[in-house]
Amino acid sequence: MTRTATIIVDDRPVTAVAGVSLTAALVGDRRWALRRNPVDGGPRGPFCGMGVCFECEVTVDGVPSVRACLTRIRPGMRVDTGAPDDR
Ligand code: FES
Repeated sequence: MTRTATIIVDDRPVTAVAGVSLTAALVGDRRWALRRNPVDGGPRGPFCGMGVCFECEVTVDGVPSVRACLTRIRPGMRVDTGAPDDR
């Protein structure tokens, strides 16, 4: 049986396989836009998946600029993207 964890993303519950990266949980929820470009406001999303590009930065439990691809989900973690819901 697969264990799952529920996190809160932009005030909405998202359930994913326990222990996956936050990027995997968000993309698995069909969300690709994780932040906005600070210059033109356009949606940005994960690109490298290994901590290099910083395109997956989100706010986790009030801590800004957390790279989602390097962060494992924990039950109840709160994620704020500031990005449009592109699902
Ligand atoms: S996707 Fe490139 S740093 Fe996370």
